[in-house]
Amino acid sequence: MHDIQNVVILTGAGISAESGIATFRGPGGLWEGHRVEDVCTPQALIHDPELVHRFYDLRRAALADVVPNAAHEALARLDREWPGELLIVTQNVDDLHERAGATRMLHMHGELNSALCAACDARAEWRECLPPGSACAACGVDALRPDIVFFGEMPYRMEEIERAISRADLFVSIGTSGAVYPAAGFVQTARYHGAQALELNLEPSAGSVYFSEVRMGAAGVLVPEWVSEVLGS
Ligand code: OAD
Repeated sequence: MHDIQNVVILTGAGISAESGIATFRGPGGLWEGHRVEDVCTPQALIHDPELVHRFYDLRRAALADVVPNAAHEALARLDREWPGELLIVTQNVDDLHERAGATRMLHMHGELNSALCAACDARAEWRECLPPGSACAACGVDALRPDIVFFGEMPYRMEEIERAISRADLFVSIGTSGAVYPAAGFVQTARYHGAQALELNLEPSAGSVYFSEVRMGAAGVLVPEWVSEVLGS
């Protein structure tokens, strides 16, 4: 690990599974009992805003019952102690990375604790229920929606992510199935730019072949082990 300075870490639902948050592609392909198309598309928001808002209200409320696990804690430790560049890119909409203390991180698929104005793009921290038709404090239009990147929408902060990946010596993917682009393609971009790539996951992801090293197991075990290894203690 001597020649590693710049690290980019991609996390997915698997890192929060041991905290008790359901992954997306569980048995039957349902997300908390719903088809993804019914709760995670712009069309769903237009056709059934009550259902979509209620779905995210429940997910937001459920955050109160979960805590970061050993994998989030280990990445927060890495963030504090890693002397080189580090960026944790999470696809997760929960707040467990930041509650563990990570700061060099971003949410590429949005956040449950945020509302987005569909009229003016203003964002507001949001901890309560968000009924359809809630008014935006910035522009006054009744257009607040959950600040979640739906299928077919552009993930957030892609330029920043691509820049970090192009500079990375090591790309690490944790707890993601590799089923959703553009995140699923980050490993190939990282390899193209010469980075090593490590996958930590319960089972091989769709893009496992692109990694230079693959370790299978629970994130709560593998991530603390790997962080101790790279920090040398
Ligand atoms: P998935 O549910 O597709 O995949 C979760 C991955 O985590 C699977 O490969 C599991 O094997 C693995 N896993 C489960 N438990 C684990 C554990 N304890 N330790 C390590 N790995 C574990 O979730 P994502 O890949 O995050 O998009 O899904 C990507 C995106 O698709 C999500 O961000 C969301 C979704 O639809 C949007 O909301 C736009």
